Amino acid sequence: MSALQTTIPYKSRKKISIKNKPNENKDTTNTIDLTTKGRHLKRHIKEEDLCVAVKISRKERKPSVSDEELILKPLTSREKEIAWLENFLSEHLESEQSGSLYISGQPGTGKTASLTYILQLPKFKQGYKQVYVNCTMMKSASSIYNRICKELQVQTSGSTEKACYNAIERYLTKKHKMILLVLDEIDQLESKRQSVLYSIFEWPSLANSSLVLIGVANALDLTQRSLPRLQARCSLTPQTLHFAPYTKDQIINIFTNVLANEDKTNLFSPVALQMLAAKIAAVSGDMRRALDIGRRVIELAKRNKFSDNQCVDSLIKDSTVTVELKEVLQVLNNVYGGSRKIEADVDEGFPLQQKLILCSLMLMLTKGKNKDIVMGKLYDVYKKVATGRNIVPLEMSEMVSACALLEASGAVRVGGGVGGAARGRRLRLQWDEGELAAALRDKPLLSAILGERSLLATA
Ligand SMILES: Nc1ncnc2c1ncn2[C@@H]1O[C@H](COP(=O)(O)OP(=O)(O)OP(=O)(O)O)[C@@H](O)[C@H]1O
Ligand SMILES: [Mg+2]
Repeated sequence: MSALQTTIPYKSRKKISIKNKPNENKDTTNTIDLTTKGRHLKRHIKEEDLCVAVKISRKERKPSVSDEELILKPLTSREKEIAWLENFLSEHLESEQSGSLYISGQPGTGKTASLTYILQLPKFKQGYKQVYVNCTMMKSASSIYNRICKELQVQTSGSTEKACYNAIERYLTKKHKMILLVLDEIDQLESKRQSVLYSIFEWPSLANSSLVLIGVANALDLTQRSLPRLQARCSLTPQTLHFAPYTKDQIINIFTNVLANEDKTNLFSPVALQMLAAKIAAVSGDMRRALDIGRRVIELAKRNKFSDNQCVDSLIKDSTVTVELKEVLQVLNNVYGGSRKIEADVDEGFPLQQKLILCSLMLMLTKGKNKDIVMGKLYDVYKKVATGRNIVPLEMSEMVSACALLEASGAVRVGGGVGGAARGRRLRLQWDEGELAAALRDKPLLSAILGERSLLATA
């Protein structure tokens, strides 16, 4: 920790971007033992963004020893950021001083996962009264204040914005246990009302507040852009910590660890993994995307290996699938090869349910009032679309998996969120909207869906 402090001055008000040593992780590439891994990697990816929910639900059940070990192991390739955060939180805890921090970083850079790890550490679990809120679902100022009141178990004289806000302020200015308030996806509040962000970031400076506030979002400059007044008052200026996109070596390292934690005998050839990591690092450094593509590559390798005449059982039993460079290249080409294949994909590549999901998304984008698409609203629309056609709709969790497949093929981008609130995850269409619309309109069933504006009534 002391070594870290020399490189990252804790008191600094400057933006901090922690870089890795160039040779870090270099030793990992020759030992890619993906043993078992197709199935486990798949499970890992499906649960990837459920990490927070998994951890929250741990409140209700006693973790086993192996759970604890798993949780208490810092995230691979984020050790420095995690150590910095630990130092930040420890100092505030020991001095009982309020403070605020803004964490920025592109999607999939491990911000939520790192915080999830930190929040689980016993010293912070015991030392702080923790409140974690993902702001994606917060529709208004009153909903965020309401939620904080609930989490803090603060009595209010009503559920209006003012009543909740006053109750929180009263609570903060009374003597209370040190609070750690984490607001993830805080940029969702930005568009709602600037004053909400100001009010929240001013809380740590209230007398007796004993509050450490952590805001998390993608933009590097959210605090300068949206909270310029705070910069003018030194006591209110949040510290900032930036999560840089993952480098190729970091992605390889993470992959290797994820897979080594599983216990079977599949294998990525080193060159295949190098290629996958190099491409993701060059495009976005997004680990969520890397894991999704990894899963797709494994599925492809399995399909290639087990020809049509083999049954599923033999596929599960045979753990000797090896992912080779050609499969990685094939998937990367599909994902990043541009929109030239859109029509073919819509026609042949996607199962019906995925087509219905894409259509529902398009319906919302083209006819809906709110262009900010979250999984829950998409599910509501999709369900009506499917039911209206006598097609049994997927369950919510199945639709989340289907969206992951659509993401792996490059059609959509699924943003982060809290696992317990899968409904809160945001979706963005990655393909060109016009081209997709044109492709969808060619199909009578799908073009009919695009005409059904009434399905958006409650979305
Ligand atoms: N260092 C890592 N080791 C293992 N898994 C990781 C690592 N970093 C990210 N991941 C995985 O990648 C996925 C995305 O990570 P996470 O949700 O933390 O990203 P994020 O920065 O919060 O993204 P967003 O801005 O979209 O919310 C998760 O499944 C997470 O478990
Ligand atoms: Mg996140």
